[in-house]
Amino acid sequence: MESALTARDRVGVQDFVLLENYNSEATFIENLRRRFRENLIYTYIGSVLVSVNPYKELEIYSKQQMERYRGVSFYEISPHIYAISDNTYRAMRTERRDQCILISGESGAGKTEASKKILLYFAVTCPTNDHMVTLGDRLLQSNPVLEAFGNAKTLRNDNSSRFGKYMDIQFDFKGATMGGHILNYLLEKSRVVHQNHGERNFHIFYQLLDGGDDDLLNTLNLERNPHSYRYLVKGSCARVSSVSDKNNWRVVRKALDVIGFTAEEVQKLLNIVASVLHLGNTLFGEGEEGETYITTETQLSNAAKLLGVDGSALKEALTHKKLTAKGEEMISPLNFEQAVSARDALAKAVYGRTFNWLVEKINQSLALKEEIYHSSKDASVIGLLDIYGFEVLQHNSFEQFCINYCNEKLQQLFIELTLRSEQEEYETEGIAWETVQYFDNKIICDLIEEKHKGIISILDEECLRPGETCDISFLEKLEDTVGGHPHFITHKLANGKTRRVMSREEFRLLHYAGEVNYNVNGFLDKNNDLLNRNLKEVMCQSENQILSHCFRREEVIDQKRPEMAASQFKNSLMKLMEILMSKEPSYIRCIKPNDAKQPGRFDEVLVRHQVKYLGLMENLRVRRAGFAYRRRFEAFLQRYKPLCPETWPNWNGKLADGVSALVNHLGYKPEEYKLGRSKIFIRFPKTLFATEDALEAKKPEIAVTLQKSWRGYRERANYQRIRHAVIVIQSGWRGMKARRRAKRRREAAQLIRRFIKGFICRHEEYCDDNDYFLDHVRCYFLKHLKKTLPRSVLDKSWPTPPALLVEASEHLQMLHMRNMVIKYCRRVQPEWKKQMMQKVVASEIFKDQKGSYPHSVGRLFLDTRLEREQVSLKVLQTLGSEKVQYGVAVIKYDRRGFKPRPRQLLLTNSFAVLVDRTKIKQRLDYAALRGISVSSLCDGMVVLHMPWEDNKQKGDAVLHCSHVIELVTKLAMMASKTNYVNINPGCIRFGVSRTKEGIIDFVRGSELKVSKGKRGHLLVTAPQISTT
Ligand SMILES: Nc1ncnc2c1ncn2[C@@H]1O[C@H](COP(=O)(O)OP(=O)(O)OP(=O)(O)O)[C@@H](O)[C@H]1O
Ligand SMILES: [Mg+2]
Repeated sequence: MESALTARDRVGVQDFVLLENYNSEATFIENLRRRFRENLIYTYIGSVLVSVNPYKELEIYSKQQMERYRGVSFYEISPHIYAISDNTYRAMRTERRDQCILISGESGAGKTEASKKILLYFAVTCPTNDHMVTLGDRLLQSNPVLEAFGNAKTLRNDNSSRFGKYMDIQFDFKGATMGGHILNYLLEKSRVVHQNHGERNFHIFYQLLDGGDDDLLNTLNLERNPHSYRYLVKGSCARVSSVSDKNNWRVVRKALDVIGFTAEEVQKLLNIVASVLHLGNTLFGEGEEGETYITTETQLSNAAKLLGVDGSALKEALTHKKLTAKGEEMISPLNFEQAVSARDALAKAVYGRTFNWLVEKINQSLALKEEIYHSSKDASVIGLLDIYGFEVLQHNSFEQFCINYCNEKLQQLFIELTLRSEQEEYETEGIAWETVQYFDNKIICDLIEEKHKGIISILDEECLRPGETCDISFLEKLEDTVGGHPHFITHKLANGKTRRVMSREEFRLLHYAGEVNYNVNGFLDKNNDLLNRNLKEVMCQSENQILSHCFRREEVIDQKRPEMAASQFKNSLMKLMEILMSKEPSYIRCIKPNDAKQPGRFDEVLVRHQVKYLGLMENLRVRRAGFAYRRRFEAFLQRYKPLCPETWPNWNGKLADGVSALVNHLGYKPEEYKLGRSKIFIRFPKTLFATEDALEAKKPEIAVTLQKSWRGYRERANYQRIRHAVIVIQSGWRGMKARRRAKRRREAAQLIRRFIKGFICRHEEYCDDNDYFLDHVRCYFLKHLKKTLPRSVLDKSWPTPPALLVEASEHLQMLHMRNMVIKYCRRVQPEWKKQMMQKVVASEIFKDQKGSYPHSVGRLFLDTRLEREQVSLKVLQTLGSEKVQYGVAVIKYDRRGFKPRPRQLLLTNSFAVLVDRTKIKQRLDYAALRGISVSSLCDGMVVLHMPWEDNKQKGDAVLHCSHVIELVTKLAMMASKTNYVNINPGCIRFGVSRTKEGIIDFVRGSELKVSKGKRGHLLVTAPQISTT
């Protein structure tokens, strides 16, 4: 209703209770019209839903719409059939009380559509399991089957339900559908044999002919053209543009399969349907003596075959009746009319009973486990009643009488339950009950159903009464018995004005919804609903199982009269009322906006009529009798609390006190409202509207407050989230850092421990305990070594290796040295190399042998000690091609007498010459050189030993040279006589002549002195040379 309040100015009110002028029918209808124009077909009267047939598909039944209404409070959202469905479902679940939804309205108002929508809503939104999926399908699929057999095109509705239907949907404790059960009421069987102009027989006949394949039709001996069948053409309207029989046939065939009909059952069922058509074409002739005979044997035999009965027995039964008089059976022929009506009665009975069988069969399929259905304690039920609405036709007959009686009963139930619930609410809320003025239609119900005095009893009596009875005698009996009743009028009883609009065969009932004239013609027959006994007997023997199930043998044997149709209907209605009374009802009142079945047309007269006979104004008055609006405290407070500073934003005290504070603040006058125990009741809509307006005005402020709080909340939440995230990251990071540090420390400690342990065990074999330390020592040594490697070959320093590396160190040292030497050598120049080679040779010859050698080491050997110009050209010419490789000044001592003579010693590649200025004095061939002798002291004496045999050589030469080391080295190298150098420590012997030998004695002295010594020796005093 709250949403209704908000939208009230837009398209009328969504709840009629809020109409200020609730007594005005015009206002009521205007509200309906305004909403209808905007395609708002649903409006509430409190909890009753008024629905106007839109006659067009509206986009309001989608799955999304279903979701929108699911679990949402009834009043919070615009009126819808889903709201009613959902509310009923939730009430069933929360209160564990059986519910029912009563859908009423006149033909074509949309009852069946409404019930289908409710069923679909449950099928889609209720929880399911595998079993329930099939069950849901079956529940949904029961509709097309029942509609095919029980619906027909009428003038008012192309798909008019010609039977009443009450369906129980059973839910288990989890709220899932677990079963279903259908009760059917009073099928309009007369339609099987007769249809008014513009109407059709039941859909199934046309569907079978249009949709059935050729084979099927052949087996049923049917032609496709419906005009071939008399039962189908009475209304001259075999085809309807809005109905596709072919498509519907497919739907029905599929539905039969889904529900669980076997192929055999379907065949039997269709046999019956076809047999009815053949029966209809079975015609009679009248003989000369008034006897009746059948003129269409083929049709009859077709019918008999399909009915599974003997042809001749059927023929006999259709033209004769069996009578029992004084215990004796007699057969008497039927006249033409009797035969026709016997045939029609058979067709009706066959069809009617088959329809009952069909419902029974569907019930078996829906209540999968019969015992569960009846015994289930936890199960709750929602009942759906889709029953014919109040009917006022041009000619109203027995059927309309029953239908309208049914509507009277429902109206009564409605009044009782509505008033009862209203009263109960006032009582529970502790509010004084205010009497509501309303019309109680019990008086009309009594008129119809009272035992012995009611119309139905009178009708039954008239049917049973022996003697001549007819419809008129029934009318007379009525006049006698209920003639004085204020709601009953006949032509005879009426005043002049009324008389004019009534025929003599009619009686008028003043129903709660209006006056209806019923024509009594056919009342007795229809109430009798008699089928000849011999026809029954034939049918009992049918081979068609459906028929043998429908026509029981006991029925024939039992002599008791079966219950009359009206009584039967009355009793089934009583049972229905009981069922409905035991449940919590919800109402859907359907209204048909026009008779032309057109969208967008709102025929005010027609609607007014329906508003009246649906009792909607009554309904509204009852609802508004006391208070226009009532709502639970929490809901009221929740909605309007912003209007009072005390209750805004939250009220923490008792709800009643909160509501009190709120209404006081709003300035409600005491007569405008009442507080119950849990609800507030507001008497006038204007009070509520004023409150609602105040709320509207307040909304921007509330919006700002909400916005503020929401933004604050959102930012705070955001901040908290970020802060939390920061803390998480921080703690994670710190944790990781601490873990790393701890790990590092732990490893360092282990390392130190290992190091110390290694140090302790450093002298042991290489093992786990000391490997680290030793490796470290090695590594350290090697790294240290790398930095301190000697950079020159002369640098002999080398770090002391650890014990483990002594051998390696030596190798390394050697390698390093070798490496340095290689590098050094690669850098040496050829002259220097020559120098070095000479020095090496000198070293080999003199090292540690001759005192002056160390002194010579640091001095370079020169290429020559004589400049070119110092050597005589003549000498050079004499030498010719021999090049002087080396020249040095020497002193030659004569072998005898030791006279010193200055000379030049020139070395060539193959000999040496002693030169006296320009003259070569002596040639010394290297090949002849026998040896070279020097002393071990620091003198310059050298003796070149030459052979005596060769005169050219002139014997040994005793020389003194200041560069004795250099000279001897070069000479020895050039002569390749390094092994011929003798170093004599004390003296040198030399040949003076072939036989005589001279001696040079060497002694140490302070300075070099060469003199003649004793015994003709040459004495050489050699000085000490400091090597430093
Ligand atoms: N909610 C709706 N939306 C669209 N069309 C609808 C709706 N309700 C009814 N109709 C149309 O109205 C037609 C008649 O509706 P429906 O058969 O439900 O009437 P009914 O009240 O059951 O009539 P009867 O008493 O003759 O069985 C439907 O065939 C459909 O075309
Ligand atoms: Mg219907």
